[in-house]
Amino acid sequence: MRMYDLIYTKKMGGALTPEQISYWARGAAQGTVPDEQSAALLMAICWQGMTIDETLALTLAMRDSGDRVDLSSIPGVKVDKHSTGGVGDKTTLILGPIVAACGVPCAMFSGRGLGHTGGTVDKYAAIPGLKVELTVEEFKASLRTTGFANSAQTGDIAPADRKLYALRDVTATVESIPLITASIMSKKLAGGSDALVLDVKSGGGAFMKTLDDSRALAQSMVNVGKAHGMKIKALITRMDEPLGWAIGNALEVMESVEILKGQHGSSDLAQMSFRLAAEMLVLGGVATTLAEAQAKVAAVVANGQAMDVFRRWTTFNGGEAAALDDFSRLPQPGQIVEIKATQPGHVHAIDGRALGLLGMELGAGRKSKDDVLDLGVGIALLTGVGRELRPGDTAFRIYAKKGARIDPEAYLQCLTLAPQPAQAQPWLLETVE
Ligand code: URA
Repeated sequence: MRMYDLIYTKKMGGALTPEQISYWARGAAQGTVPDEQSAALLMAICWQGMTIDETLALTLAMRDSGDRVDLSSIPGVKVDKHSTGGVGDKTTLILGPIVAACGVPCAMFSGRGLGHTGGTVDKYAAIPGLKVELTVEEFKASLRTTGFANSAQTGDIAPADRKLYALRDVTATVESIPLITASIMSKKLAGGSDALVLDVKSGGGAFMKTLDDSRALAQSMVNVGKAHGMKIKALITRMDEPLGWAIGNALEVMESVEILKGQHGSSDLAQMSFRLAAEMLVLGGVATTLAEAQAKVAAVVANGQAMDVFRRWTTFNGGEAAALDDFSRLPQPGQIVEIKATQPGHVHAIDGRALGLLGMELGAGRKSKDDVLDLGVGIALLTGVGRELRPGDTAFRIYAKKGARIDPEAYLQCLTLAPQPAQAQPWLLETVE
């Protein structure tokens, strides 16, 4: 088989066979296919797309390029959640303990952040002592003992995806529906869960900017999951402004804990986390209707059981659970700077992507994958779409390194103000199953 022929076929709009796709994925993982040929094929796929059969074959080939986690020894329907990534998205920290407290084993592998979006693993790293990279045995022990397991990817899962994702990142070939589908679903299938809820972000702060593209991506991932016997459902959610008030690792732990303790219950972040958790309970088989699942979610937040799971899980994985009740034990910033509005107006839009990039400049996110984060820095957003600002009102509180220079204008430019009141937009756009 020659890579040249694969590239030529795809360039001309033809379809690749499962054998050709498997040859490529294996070769990419083992280093026997040169990067320039993989890059050329990736670009051809971006332009010409892939059929459902090709997408399925690529998903399987990437899944089979590395280890697979076997969770069959743990009783129950193991449920996972994946989000395509957004600014301030800490739903994983909130829903994991909730789902476990409702009796469904919640098994999630998460990533580190790169660029304007944060990664769940980095948020957990803000809890002193917490082990965020578990072996498969440690992952299973956490799941068996606390009902919840969440770790950076363990073992050698989908090395073909690791290789191809790194190439996509530098060749402007990330935004392709079949490539995103195969990348995400290969890792999810290798992760060993029986059911998966997808949160596909749509809007200015997301990979998929339009509802049509988000719907196509959601449907593509649902099709692949179903073809492999997974119980799967996708929510398409709006990602324009940041989710919640916190951007930055320790701050996001604080906001998650506050929600698990019953605060900010009507916020989009809480509502989205509770809905995703409820969908997981339905797929996990402990509720037959969404309303029943939502009642269970509300009950474990109100009676403190979800927070108890979070404390137990933290302790089990070596973390200091006291930091969840005393935030002064979390990493602290070197200085706090308030940014006040200079113009009056109603907030019509907040540029989540730009705020994510400002958070990255503060040290909360990575510009390149080897950057070391400052877990105590970040941004607290003290306004929101639909709210009014008057000159002198604090719009942002910046948690920065000591001596860092903060440009208030860069933050204020993230707000779109207008004289007339604005309507807050719904966070849930559609569901796909
Ligand atoms: N996340 C992934 O893991 N892969 C993609 O291709 C895009 C987002």
